[in-house]
Amino acid sequence: MKETVLVTGAAGFIGTHVCEALLAQGNQVFGLDDFSTGTRRRNVPYELVQGSILDQEAQKLVDQLKPRVIVHLAALTGTRRSHLETQRYLNVNIMGSQAMMDAAVRVGARFVFASTSSVYGKLKSPSTEDAACAEPSWKYPSSHWRRRSRTSRQLRHYFRYQSMKQLKL
Ligand SMILES: NC(=O)c1ccc[n+]([C@@H]2O[C@H](COP(=O)([O-])OP(=O)(O)OC[C@H]3O[C@@H](n4cnc5c(N)ncnc54)[C@H](O)[C@@H]3O)[C@@H](O)[C@H]2O)c1
Repeated sequence: MKETVLVTGAAGFIGTHVCEALLAQGNQVFGLDDFSTGTRRRNVPYELVQGSILDQEAQKLVDQLKPRVIVHLAALTGTRRSHLETQRYLNVNIMGSQAMMDAAVRVGARFVFASTSSVYGKLKSPSTEDAACAEPSWKYPSSHWRRRSRTSRQLRHYFRYQSMKQLKL
Protein backbone atom coordinates (compact mmCIF):
# COMPACT_ATOMS: atom_id res chain seq x y z
CA MET A 1 0.00 0.00 0.00
CA LYS A 2 1.28 3.44 -0.90
CA GLU A 3 2.16 5.38 2.23
CA THR A 4 3.54 8.77 3.13
CA VAL A 5 6.94 8.23 4.74
CA LEU A 6 9.21 10.79 6.35
CA VAL A 7 12.87 9.80 6.48
CA THR A 8 15.13 11.81 8.79
CA GLY A 9 18.82 11.74 7.92
CA ALA A 10 17.73 11.17 4.33
CA ALA A 11 21.00 12.45 2.86
CA GLY A 12 23.08 10.02 4.91
CA PHE A 13 24.53 6.66 3.97
CA ILE A 14 21.54 4.56 4.99
CA GLY A 15 18.92 7.26 4.44
CA THR A 16 19.77 7.65 0.76
CA HIS A 17 19.19 3.96 0.09
CA VAL A 18 16.09 3.79 2.28
CA CYS A 19 14.51 6.71 0.39
CA GLU A 20 15.22 5.09 -2.96
CA ALA A 21 13.85 1.73 -1.83
CA LEU A 22 10.69 3.31 -0.41
CA LEU A 23 10.18 5.29 -3.59
CA ALA A 24 10.66 2.19 -5.75
CA GLN A 25 7.86 0.56 -3.75
CA GLY A 26 5.54 3.41 -4.74
CA ASN A 27 5.53 5.30 -1.47
CA GLN A 28 5.39 9.06 -1.18
CA VAL A 29 8.77 9.94 0.31
CA PHE A 30 9.87 13.08 2.11
CA GLY A 31 13.43 13.42 3.36
CA LEU A 32 14.65 15.69 6.13
CA ASP A 33 18.33 16.40 6.64
CA ASP A 34 20.43 19.32 7.83
CA PHE A 35 23.32 18.22 5.58
CA SER A 36 25.74 18.51 8.50
CA THR A 37 27.43 15.33 7.27
CA GLY A 38 25.04 14.07 4.59
CA THR A 39 25.65 14.59 0.90
CA ARG A 40 23.60 17.21 -0.88
CA ARG A 41 22.74 15.60 -4.21
CA ARG A 42 20.95 17.31 -7.05
CA ASN A 43 17.69 16.16 -8.59
CA VAL A 44 16.77 13.52 -6.06
CA PRO A 45 13.44 12.01 -7.16
CA TYR A 46 11.70 12.83 -3.85
CA GLU A 47 11.30 15.93 -1.76
CA LEU A 48 14.37 16.53 0.39
CA VAL A 49 13.89 19.31 2.91
CA GLN A 50 16.83 21.00 4.63
CA GLY A 51 16.29 21.29 8.36
CA SER A 52 17.30 19.99 11.76
CA ILE A 53 15.31 17.48 13.76
CA LEU A 54 15.93 19.82 16.70
CA ASP A 55 14.03 22.70 15.14
CA GLN A 56 10.40 23.59 15.53
CA GLU A 57 10.15 23.52 11.74
CA ALA A 58 10.67 19.75 11.82
CA GLN A 59 7.67 19.43 14.14
CA LYS A 60 5.60 21.60 11.80
CA LEU A 61 6.68 19.47 8.84
CA VAL A 62 5.44 16.33 10.59
CA ASP A 63 2.15 18.02 11.48
CA GLN A 64 1.65 19.10 7.88
CA LEU A 65 2.65 15.80 6.26
CA LYS A 66 1.03 13.52 8.81
CA PRO A 67 3.23 10.63 7.61
CA ARG A 68 2.12 7.06 8.23
CA VAL A 69 5.73 6.16 8.98
CA ILE A 70 8.75 8.05 10.29
CA VAL A 71 12.08 6.35 9.58
CA HIS A 72 14.42 8.05 12.02
CA LEU A 73 18.03 7.90 10.79
CA ALA A 74 19.25 11.43 11.50
CA ALA A 75 22.19 11.26 13.86
CA LEU A 76 25.71 12.42 14.49
CA THR A 77 27.73 9.27 14.08
CA GLY A 78 31.45 10.03 14.10
CA THR A 79 32.94 8.21 17.08
CA ARG A 80 36.10 10.27 17.41
CA ARG A 81 34.29 13.56 16.96
CA SER A 82 31.65 12.62 19.52
CA HIS A 83 34.31 12.73 22.22
CA LEU A 84 35.25 16.25 21.17
CA GLU A 85 31.72 17.62 20.71
CA THR A 86 29.87 15.66 23.36
CA GLN A 87 27.18 18.26 24.05
CA ARG A 88 26.29 18.63 20.38
CA TYR A 89 26.14 14.86 19.91
CA LEU A 90 23.98 14.36 22.99
CA ASN A 91 21.67 17.10 21.83
CA VAL A 92 21.09 15.73 18.33
CA ASN A 93 21.17 12.03 19.18
CA ILE A 94 19.06 12.16 22.32
CA MET A 95 16.93 15.31 22.27
CA GLY A 96 16.49 15.09 18.50
CA SER A 97 15.32 11.47 18.74
CA GLN A 98 12.95 12.42 21.55
CA ALA A 99 11.50 15.23 19.43
CA MET A 100 10.88 12.87 16.51
CA MET A 101 9.29 10.25 18.76
CA ASP A 102 6.97 12.89 20.22
CA ALA A 103 6.03 14.00 16.72
CA ALA A 104 5.31 10.39 15.69
CA VAL A 105 3.04 9.88 18.70
CA ARG A 106 1.21 13.14 18.00
CA VAL A 107 0.31 12.22 14.41
CA GLY A 108 -0.03 8.46 15.00
CA ALA A 109 2.90 7.53 12.75
CA ARG A 110 4.74 4.24 12.98
CA PHE A 111 8.33 4.78 14.05
CA VAL A 112 11.37 3.00 12.63
CA PHE A 113 14.57 3.46 14.60
CA ALA A 114 18.07 2.34 13.59
CA SER A 115 19.96 0.91 16.52
CA THR A 116 23.39 -0.68 16.34
CA SER A 117 24.98 -4.06 16.97
CA SER A 118 27.35 -2.26 19.34
CA VAL A 119 24.65 -2.34 22.05
CA TYR A 120 25.52 -6.00 22.50
CA GLY A 121 29.16 -5.32 23.26
CA LYS A 122 31.53 -8.14 22.45
CA LEU A 123 29.49 -11.27 21.89
CA LYS A 124 30.67 -14.78 21.37
CA SER A 125 29.78 -16.02 17.96
CA PRO A 126 27.17 -17.12 16.92
CA SER A 127 25.12 -14.29 18.37
CA THR A 128 21.40 -13.60 18.36
CA GLU A 129 19.38 -10.38 18.27
CA ASP A 130 17.68 -11.12 21.58
CA ALA A 131 20.97 -11.28 23.47
CA ALA A 132 21.18 -8.96 26.48
CA CYS A 133 22.64 -5.52 25.86
CA ALA A 134 26.03 -5.05 27.45
CA GLU A 135 27.73 -2.04 28.96
CA PRO A 136 29.48 -0.08 26.23
CA SER A 137 33.21 -0.20 25.97
CA TRP A 138 34.98 3.02 26.86
CA LYS A 139 35.54 3.62 23.15
CA TYR A 140 31.85 3.71 22.42
CA PRO A 141 30.54 7.29 22.52
CA SER A 142 28.12 7.97 25.32
CA SER A 143 25.72 9.87 23.03
CA HIS A 144 25.39 6.77 20.83
CA TRP A 145 24.95 4.45 23.77
CA ARG A 146 22.50 6.66 25.61
CA ARG A 147 20.59 7.28 22.41
CA ARG A 148 20.04 3.55 21.96
CA SER A 149 19.12 2.76 25.51
CA ARG A 150 17.11 5.91 26.23
CA THR A 151 15.28 5.87 22.91
CA SER A 152 14.52 2.18 23.32
CA ARG A 153 13.11 2.76 26.81
CA GLN A 154 11.03 5.68 25.57
CA LEU A 155 9.77 3.63 22.64
CA ARG A 156 8.70 0.86 25.05
CA HIS A 157 6.76 3.45 27.04
CA TYR A 158 5.03 4.81 23.93
CA PHE A 159 4.26 1.26 22.78
CA ARG A 160 2.59 0.39 26.11
CA TYR A 161 0.76 3.59 26.87
CA GLN A 162 0.19 5.26 23.50
CA SER A 163 -0.10 2.15 21.27
CA MET A 164 2.71 3.43 19.10
CA LYS A 165 3.66 1.01 16.35
CA GLN A 166 7.40 0.79 15.98
CA LEU A 167 10.29 -1.15 14.60
CA LYS A 168 13.82 -1.14 15.99
CA LEU A 169 16.60 -2.25 13.66
N1 LIG B 1 26.03 2.79 8.69
C1 LIG B 1 26.02 1.75 9.51
O1 LIG B 1 26.70 0.73 9.28
C2 LIG B 1 25.12 1.72 10.71
C3 LIG B 1 25.09 0.58 11.50
C4 LIG B 1 24.25 0.55 12.60
C5 LIG B 1 23.49 1.64 12.92
N2 LIG B 1 23.54 2.77 12.15
C6 LIG B 1 22.70 3.89 12.55
O2 LIG B 1 21.85 4.28 11.46
C7 LIG B 1 21.67 5.69 11.49
C8 LIG B 1 22.10 6.30 10.15
O3 LIG B 1 23.43 5.91 9.89
P1 LIG B 1 24.24 6.41 8.60
O4 LIG B 1 25.40 5.48 8.46
O5 LIG B 1 23.31 6.60 7.45
O6 LIG B 1 24.80 7.81 9.13
P2 LIG B 1 25.15 9.12 8.28
O7 LIG B 1 26.07 9.94 9.13
O8 LIG B 1 25.60 8.77 6.91
O9 LIG B 1 23.74 9.85 8.15
C9 LIG B 1 23.18 10.60 9.18
C10 LIG B 1 22.47 11.77 8.54
O10 LIG B 1 21.85 12.54 9.57
C11 LIG B 1 21.98 13.92 9.22
N3 LIG B 1 21.84 14.72 10.42
C12 LIG B 1 22.71 14.89 11.44
N4 LIG B 1 22.22 15.71 12.36
C13 LIG B 1 20.98 16.09 11.93
C14 LIG B 1 19.98 16.95 12.45
N5 LIG B 1 20.14 17.61 13.60
N6 LIG B 1 18.84 17.09 11.74
C15 LIG B 1 18.66 16.45 10.56
N7 LIG B 1 19.58 15.64 10.01
C16 LIG B 1 20.73 15.46 10.70
C17 LIG B 1 23.37 14.02 8.58
O11 LIG B 1 23.51 15.17 7.77
C18 LIG B 1 23.42 12.73 7.79
O12 LIG B 1 22.94 12.91 6.47
C19 LIG B 1 22.50 6.22 12.67
O13 LIG B 1 21.67 6.31 13.79
C20 LIG B 1 23.53 5.14 12.85
O14 LIG B 1 24.04 5.12 14.16
C21 LIG B 1 24.34 2.83 11.06
